[in-house]
Amino acid sequence: MEPAAIEVSPIMQDALEALPDGFMICEADGKPIVANSVSRRRFPTFYAALDCGLDFKGAIAVSVAAAWPGASREQIEQVTAGLTSKFQTGEPYETPTEDGCIVRVSFRSMPHGRKAATSVDITELRAKEKELRRAHEAAVESENLALAASTAKSAFLANMSHEIRTPLNGILGMAQVLAMGPLAPEQSEQVSTILDSGRHLLALLTDILDISKIEAGKLTVTPIETDIIDLLERVGQLWAPKAQEAGLQFHVCVDAALPPVLNFDAGRVRQCLGNLISNAIKFTARGHVVVYASSVRQSSGDHLVKIRVADTGAGINEETLQRLFRPFTQADDTTARTYGGTGLGLSITRKLAELMGGTTTATSQPGCGSEFVLTFLGGEAATKRSSDEREGSDPGHCPSAERGSILMVGAPRRSPKD
Ligand SMILES: Nc1ncnc2c1ncn2[C@@H]1O[C@H](COP(=O)(O)OP(=O)(O)OP(=O)(O)O)[C@@H](O)[C@H]1O
Ligand SMILES: [Mg+2]
Repeated sequence: MEPAAIEVSPIMQDALEALPDGFMICEADGKPIVANSVSRRRFPTFYAALDCGLDFKGAIAVSVAAAWPGASREQIEQVTAGLTSKFQTGEPYETPTEDGCIVRVSFRSMPHGRKAATSVDITELRAKEKELRRAHEAAVESENLALAASTAKSAFLANMSHEIRTPLNGILGMAQVLAMGPLAPEQSEQVSTILDSGRHLLALLTDILDISKIEAGKLTVTPIETDIIDLLERVGQLWAPKAQEAGLQFHVCVDAALPPVLNFDAGRVRQCLGNLISNAIKFTARGHVVVYASSVRQSSGDHLVKIRVADTGAGINEETLQRLFRPFTQADDTTARTYGGTGLGLSITRKLAELMGGTTTATSQPGCGSEFVLTFLGGEAATKRSSDEREGSDPGHCPSAERGSILMVGAPRRSPKD
């Protein structure tokens, strides 16, 4: 049966004209029956070509050529083929228009093979997308540049500190030889100053090397089976005289349940503890410094070792606490002048702890002291040993620590500052 002719009532005609989008109804062969003026304005060549007797595909081809003056023959054929195939499938298709826009054209099927076509203006949307893409590319490019600059800086720092360390070790070695020789008291003091300054510089270079290795992602940790109690005892023995010299009480205690042997990087743990204990002693004028080690067994079988370093020093205000673990952070400008240091210790300590599966945190109450907590994962050791098998262990009550803890090192106050 022949399809009935389409009658468009005046009200429907007005409605079609009021649409912001192009609208057309065509026969199965693409010949338009109804089209609003938006559609005619967007594709005037298409409608004129049909009026001149061209078929749908031919009219589309001349319309695409008119809308895209610089397009090659292949490009025109490609867009034309796309549009004619989408005419059948109904899938939306994007095309330039003769009035300089980009539209999304969709054909919907109607009874008797007829199609209703809409063309929606997406020029602004595409322009915004392009702008966003450009901004994203620019951001990626500047991020890459910043990353390259930072990597270059890290490599430079690493190379420099490495290069300086070699001759410095030579200077220190020779100064040590000098110190052992027969020297007048004044000369002896001068050599001792060379040694002190050299060691300080060496420690600083080591910190810079560590920070640049961490930034370059080159720092690795090597867990090996280690007697952790022995390590804590040695660390305690190393720092006890310094605490005593500063007139502070100093205690190292361990929880009785801490497994004595675990797999972890002993050198790095010693370095972290050295940073925390040296800070505690440095920033505490009176009172005590207590180191307390315990552990929590994880479902994986590893132990999360937790070492608290608590002091009764000046404490840290909230604002400084927030930025404490960033490199080169010191409480204020006078810190470096009064206590020395560069503000690298805590940032290295946290990064190392993170590499070892833990972290470093700080809590403090200004005027009442600070507590730093170092955590790291200790793998279960093949060698099992209980705490009381240790030679020369001297279990005693640990002051300022939990019940069930054992005192490893205890240095009483010698010359109180208070
Ligand atoms: N126990 C503490 N009590 C009070 N302030 C502390 C304590 N530990 C750290 N701080 C504050 O945090 C700052 C950063 O500590 P960090 O160890 O990173 O650097 P530093 O000790 O100044 O220098 P470096 O460790 O590089 O020799 C210190 O300068 C100090 O202001
Ligand atoms: Mg420090």
